[in-house]
Amino acid sequence: MKNEIIKIKNEILEALNGIKDEQVLAGIEKKYLGRKGSLTKILRQVADLSGDNRKIIGKFANDTKREIGEKLNELKKALDNSQASDSFIDVTLPGKKIETGRLNPVSIVQNELEDLFKSMGFIILDGPELESDYYNFEALNIPATHPARDMQDTFYVDIKNKKGEYDTVMRTHTSPVQVRAMQKYGAPLRCVVPGRVFRSEAIDACHEHTFDQMEGLMIDENISIANLIAVMKELLKGIFGQEVETRVRPGYFPFVEPGIELDIKCTICGGKGCPACKHSGWLELLPAGMVHPSVLKFGGIDSKIYTGFAFGLGLTRLAMMKYGIDDIRLFNSGDLRFLEQF
Ligand code: DAH
Repeated sequence: MKNEIIKIKNEILEALNGIKDEQVLAGIEKKYLGRKGSLTKILRQVADLSGDNRKIIGKFANDTKREIGEKLNELKKALDNSQASDSFIDVTLPGKKIETGRLNPVSIVQNELEDLFKSMGFIILDGPELESDYYNFEALNIPATHPARDMQDTFYVDIKNKKGEYDTVMRTHTSPVQVRAMQKYGAPLRCVVPGRVFRSEAIDACHEHTFDQMEGLMIDENISIANLIAVMKELLKGIFGQEVETRVRPGYFPFVEPGIELDIKCTICGGKGCPACKHSGWLELLPAGMVHPSVLKFGGIDSKIYTGFAFGLGLTRLAMMKYGIDDIRLFNSGDLRFLEQF
């Protein structure tokens, strides 16, 4: 029996010689050491031997089994290691690029302005895009029969109020949040309201039915137009990273008195005149004014104690100027060739 064991052992060692494949190794293990393996069978027969013979052969058989087991483990480890080195990762290779989304340029400008206004103590508010006629017009001093309603081409919505009237509009500006904010927070108040607005426009490179504005409102005792201009200058410095030349003209908006238009020297031609500024050298950027006493009243604020200023900044317009975008339709186009540039 001892000879038989030695024979099998040699057979196994020979088979293991120069082995390179894990599967072949597993096959050899099964053939000799598996349940029906030839070495296993012989080891079982040891139990049938008698006396000293069983002790001596038993020990020899067990030693052989252990020796072969160790050899097998050694080979398994070696094969594992060589496979690990085959899948070596070169960390100096450039990685796979992970695609990330981008912010729309309007959002970029909006975020910058929110930070700027927060640093001046303003809170950021929003309001409904589907707005009542009351907040969009009435409470801003634009009654139903007022010709100023013609200034904004409006989408009315097919929803009736309790009295059976159609009085819901897609808000045409962010100004309705002025009165909502006054009613909610009272005075003193400092807020900006970024948001989407809607106009029933004929669409071209300069007109969209959906665009973004940022409303600003500051109410306190002794607020004057000087405060308005100071904040506007701070705002422009934040946007353009330097002082820009401005001019103030009178402007008409029913919810402010006086109303102004703040223009800036054209950033494209430097004031010489070009198509972007309609050859005037100036760009209309910020309509603003001192909040009309009637609007303060609609907001529940005593106009004998408090005054305030308001402005309405065209965020989309600003993004166009900042990035030199010449077609407003690109913003909502969803065109990745455009969006991926920011
Ligand atoms: N809401 C006006 C518009 O969309 C812009 C505006 C003008 C807002 C004057 C203001 C303001 O707050 O004071 O045309």
